[in-house]
Amino acid sequence: MSEFLSLDPDTLSIRERHGYLLTAVAPRPIALATTIDSEGNINLSPFSFFNVFSSNPPIMIFSPARRGKDNTTKHTLQNVKDIAECTISIVNYPMVEQMSLSSSDYPKGVNEYTKAGFTEIASDIVKTPRVAESPVSFECKVQEVVELGDQGAAGNLVICKVVKIHIKKEYLDEKQRLDTQKLDLVGRMGGIWYTRANGDLFEIPKPLSTPGIGVDQLPKELLESHILTANDLGRLGNIEALPTEEEVFKMKSSNEYISLKKDYESEPDKFQDAIYHKAKDLLAAGKIEVALQLLMAIRY
Ligand SMILES: Cc1cc2nc3c(=O)[nH]c(=O)nc-3n(C[C@H](O)[C@H](O)[C@H](O)COP(=O)(O)O)c2cc1C
Repeated sequence: MSEFLSLDPDTLSIRERHGYLLTAVAPRPIALATTIDSEGNINLSPFSFFNVFSSNPPIMIFSPARRGKDNTTKHTLQNVKDIAECTISIVNYPMVEQMSLSSSDYPKGVNEYTKAGFTEIASDIVKTPRVAESPVSFECKVQEVVELGDQGAAGNLVICKVVKIHIKKEYLDEKQRLDTQKLDLVGRMGGIWYTRANGDLFEIPKPLSTPGIGVDQLPKELLESHILTANDLGRLGNIEALPTEEEVFKMKSSNEYISLKKDYESEPDKFQDAIYHKAKDLLAAGKIEVALQLLMAIRY
């Protein structure tokens, strides 16, 4: 029996396919898109089919899809086809409930800023306002709308060029950079699930500019270890070179190594596990070179 459920997307109902795709491709950032119709009515709606795709030129895309149940189109799509401008306001935790409310299917002409209790701020370049409560908003010119189909649930890519960026100063650090921890962004998961970035934030050091040695070059016993995880091995494989014999011997004669060995004098079979656990702690602290020296010291 295969460990996989393998599906042909064409055999699934719209609802099933939607569920698999959106639950798997998550968390997704949320854009609060403000658009305007030709009579000047303002519309606000959230979209998690959304991301940034280029920084030079600065391009973001979101996708107001055709409704799965009746194949009708959304006000946002109609508006950007009439007036090719919008703002995209980023959603963070303090505004998540209001954002959700703004997704309600209000009749055309109803301003969701009022319904959701958001505040409009006039934009500098485009006609559409932006959300005052949002930590970061982008004024955009809509370059192109790409229709991906004409059936229910077909997406429509609204390709936006960012022409102005507005950042609330409280979300900046002392160097005027956006501060991830202060931002406290939220993401959309499958169904009605959301994730809060500050709930479980972790950093991954960028791969080296010179490629790391790769997991395949690590000593065999490390690859077979039950203590080191795949993440640990990935971090070790990012090292520029294996430690030299000299470095490994230096580690072996270090006070730390000798005292650890002493601690396990009465139960030497547990010494190797202790070294591996110590190496894991070092890896978590970003001390990759030292961790690998330690792991290799027990070979000699
Ligand atoms: C967090 C969240 C994300 C959403 N993402 C999308 C999306 O990417 N595409 C879409 O068509 N609808 C999405 N929706 C639903 C729309 O916001 C909803 O259909 C809205 O009423 C459309 O409004 P409009 O007709 O005024 O444009 C999302 C709703 C929520 C709450």
